[in-house]
Amino acid sequence: MKILFAASEVFPFAKTGGLADVAGSLPVVLKELGHDVRVVMPKYRGVERFATDLADTGARTPVRIGDEIAVGALFEGRLAGRVPVYFVRYDPYFDRDGLYGTAQGDYPDNASRFIFFSRTILDAMQSLDFWPEVLHLNDWQCALAALYLKSYTGVSRYDQVASLLTIHNLGYQGLFWHYDMPLTGLGWEYFTPEGIEFYGKINLLKAGLISADLLSTVSRKYAREIQTEEYGFGLDGVLKKRARDLCGILNGVDYTLWDPADDPFLPERYGPDDLTGKAACKRELLKRFGLEVRMRRPLIGCVSRLTAQKGFDLVAAVGPDLARLDAALVVLGDGEEKVRSDLVDLAKRYPKHFGIRIAYDDGLAHLIEAGADFFLMPSRYEPCGLNQMYSLKYGTIPIVRGTGGLDDTIVSFNRKTRTGNGFKFFSYSPQRLLSAVRRAVSVYHERPLFARLIRNAMACDFSWTRSAQDYEKLYTRLLRKGAKRKQTR
Ligand code: ADP
Ligand code: GLC
Repeated sequence: MKILFAASEVFPFAKTGGLADVAGSLPVVLKELGHDVRVVMPKYRGVERFATDLADTGARTPVRIGDEIAVGALFEGRLAGRVPVYFVRYDPYFDRDGLYGTAQGDYPDNASRFIFFSRTILDAMQSLDFWPEVLHLNDWQCALAALYLKSYTGVSRYDQVASLLTIHNLGYQGLFWHYDMPLTGLGWEYFTPEGIEFYGKINLLKAGLISADLLSTVSRKYAREIQTEEYGFGLDGVLKKRARDLCGILNGVDYTLWDPADDPFLPERYGPDDLTGKAACKRELLKRFGLEVRMRRPLIGCVSRLTAQKGFDLVAAVGPDLARLDAALVVLGDGEEKVRSDLVDLAKRYPKHFGIRIAYDDGLAHLIEAGADFFLMPSRYEPCGLNQMYSLKYGTIPIVRGTGGLDDTIVSFNRKTRTGNGFKFFSYSPQRLLSAVRRAVSVYHERPLFARLIRNAMACDFSWTRSAQDYEKLYTRLLRKGAKRKQTR
């Protein structure tokens, strides 16, 4: 199959969260399965560091954005040395420090930037003369491309292209005031409740939800959750209407990057048969956070975007109890001011127990995965979550709230049957979180039991193989849609 995979971030070129991990690995696996897959993303500042072979294709994609004509230049590089990546270069929009904004907030022209990106995805097919059968879009930053594709019916070879939109996080929708409508180049007839209007604003994700041929999200549970008011962020009605076209496919893990037996960021490597290297990682981690090196004290790790989604208000609430339990906690993250200051306060009040690092640091993220005994993810919602799956491979036991992908991947440890791979709680409350941590700590102190739990965790396999096959099936469904459309013309 010919597949064009579009995303606003792709590891290693640019990353703010899990979308980049997925976009950096799924296309490579699809390529290995024999498909002609290519990726398209914006050319942000600094991508050259990871795309050393960048070459100008000569293709240009002029797009009218309001009063200006933005001319994209398509550069080609390679992902994992194998998958062609088209970088859309338009420096006024993308040659900036951040991807979507700075610490002060989102860039004020994000509507223009990603309307431009969405249009360019389609225009690139024409200018590169690459006509995919499947256009795989991800999140709001390129969702509008699905609507443009529909509006191109009968134009050139667009009829044979069918689109899939994957929702990685419904909490981010690309909402802009209605004055931005002319930037889209679409008529006002699209600005209706059945169209892309959403409580008086433009909603770019919704454009994709109503237009893409098929929809998916990144776990089965999240696919059900987003059709409810509690998790639907106002779009549950739209999603319910499309329930038959919506499915959940769990993300996979790229074990070439996340494996303690072969991880360049660790002071010592280790595997399921010999965990001595893990102890060395714990020692190093405690030192890096300036905490006392006490090997028999449970150490909980956390690597996360610091946003309301991730449940840090619960962590702040149970901070004193964790200290009383004599557990240590290290957090690496960056994000919202309120979440940051809560965590920094906690570390100031309990310097012997808590270490906080406000930063984005890939190497330290790997060290936490390896050096901690437990990995905490008390998310309010979690479409898939990758870190709990990484943790399992590192023998670091997840403590999670049973929502979205966390519920689909973590099975509570049962002392009697000695089955399960982590600890799980459901109600979003500090008490429930605390009781899960208590259960975890009590197992931790029973060494043979804990050793069994670690073995269970390390035996879990979340490699991409199965999920990539599920995507193949979905693409095959799409091919039928594309073919049908061609016939009906
Ligand atoms: P989300 O996409 O919602 O942020 P995921 O669990 O899917 O959550 O993916 C998060 C990814 O981003 C993981 O690879 C994680 O290690 C990484 N990450 C998040 N914050 C940081 C940070 N401060 N430093 C390094 N890596 C981070
Ligand atoms: C999102 C979600 C996260 C998911 C990631 C990749 O950012 O918050 O749960 O793992 O996308 O799909």
